[in-house]
Amino acid sequence: MRPDAAALPPPIEPGQPLTALAPMQDVTDLAFMRVIAHYGAPDFFFTEFFRVHAQSRPEKHILRSIDENTTGRPVFAQLIGEDIAHMERTIRELLRHPVAGIDLNLGCPAPKVYKKNVGGGLLRDPARIDEILAALRAAVPGLFTVKMRIGFEDTRAFETVLASINRHRVDLLSLHGRTVREMYRSEVHYDYIARTVKLVDCPVLANGNVTSAGRAAEVLELTRAAGVMIGRHAIRNPWIFRQIRERHRDGTASRVTLAQVREYIARLYQETRSDDFPETAHVNKMKKYLNFVGQSVDADGAFLHDMRRCSSEHELFSVCDRHLLREPEREFSPEPYPGVIARPNCETPDAVDGCSLATISA
Ligand SMILES: Cc1cc2nc3c(=O)[nH]c(=O)nc-3n(C[C@H](O)[C@H](O)[C@H](O)COP(=O)(O)O)c2cc1C
Repeated sequence: MRPDAAALPPPIEPGQPLTALAPMQDVTDLAFMRVIAHYGAPDFFFTEFFRVHAQSRPEKHILRSIDENTTGRPVFAQLIGEDIAHMERTIRELLRHPVAGIDLNLGCPAPKVYKKNVGGGLLRDPARIDEILAALRAAVPGLFTVKMRIGFEDTRAFETVLASINRHRVDLLSLHGRTVREMYRSEVHYDYIARTVKLVDCPVLANGNVTSAGRAAEVLELTRAAGVMIGRHAIRNPWIFRQIRERHRDGTASRVTLAQVREYIARLYQETRSDDFPETAHVNKMKKYLNFVGQSVDADGAFLHDMRRCSSEHELFSVCDRHLLREPEREFSPEPYPGVIARPNCETPDAVDGCSLATISA
C-alpha cells in the first residue's frame, strides 16, 4: 500500500473484507440504496454514472442518492466521459455535495457509450486514459477511484492501464474481470483480478458474478482482493452484504425464507413508488428487479413465468403470495437456480444500452 494513500472510509466491521454495491444505471438510486441498507448495507455505495459532456449538469435524480443518503454508509459519485475540462467542471460541482470520493467509469460496454470513446471504449486508448487519470487525480483532493474491465477486445493494454493507475495514485480499483466484448455473461477472469492485486498499489474490489457469501469467500481466496463489489446478485438477494460479514465472522451465513423475500418485494415496491409513475409503469419497473429475484425462488422458473405476465399491482402481489407464501419457511436459494435466466436477454453487440436494466440479464 502507498504510504501517501488517502484512507478509505472505515468499513462497517474492521478486519472484514470490504464490500460495495456496484453502480447500476436505473437501479442504484436513492430508493434502492435505502432498501439495500435495510437488509444489511455494504461498506460503500457508488452512484449510477453521471454523464459528462459539454452540455451536461449533474443529473438531479442521481444527486439525490448523495444528498439524501440515509444509509449511514458513504457514497462515491461515478462519472463517465472523456472531455477533461468538462470532467474537471463536473468534479467541482460534485465536490459541493457530500460524496465519499469520485469514481471514473472505464467499463461500460454499451455500444452507444463506447462508440463515443467513453466508459469501456476508453480501454482502446491507454494513452488517453493516462491523460485523464492525471487530470482527474489533480482535480480530486480526496479519494479518487476507478472502476474498469480488463480490456476492450482483448487484454493487451491491461498492464499499461494498471501502470497508469499506479502513476496517478488511484485510491481504490474496482475490477470487473471481463473485457468489454464479453459484456455480462462470459466466465469472469479472476486470474486477472489476482494479477492486478499484485500489480497495483491500491486496494482492489473483485467484481463479476459474486453470487453469494460462499462465492465471495472463494473469490477473495482466489484473488486476494481487499473486497468484493456486487451488482446483480444484490438485486436478487439484498441480504448478501450482511451474509458476507456473517460468514466471515462465524463461518455461516443466515438463511433467508420466501416469506422474507415477499417482504423485500413489498418494501421495494413502496420505496420505488413515485407520483410520476403510473401503476403499469411501476409494475414494469418492478418486473425488472424481480427478474433477478426469481432466479432463487424455484428451480423451474414458475415464479418468473407468472410474474412476467402481470400488469397491475394486484396481479403482481397475488403472484408473489401464491409463490412465496405457500411455503413461507422454504429457503430462498443462496445461489441462482441453474438455468433460471433473467430476461429480457438483449445482450447482443448491437444492444442499444448495455448498461440498463432493460437490456441486462444474468
Ligand atoms: C442494470 C445494470 C446497470 C449498470 N450500470 C453501471 C454503471 O452505471 N456504472 C458502472 O460502472 N457499471 C455499471 N454496471 C456494471 C456493474 O457495476 C457490474 O460491474 C456488473 O454488473 C458485474 O457485476 P455483477 O456480476 O455483480 O452484476 C451495470 C450493470 C447492470 C446489471
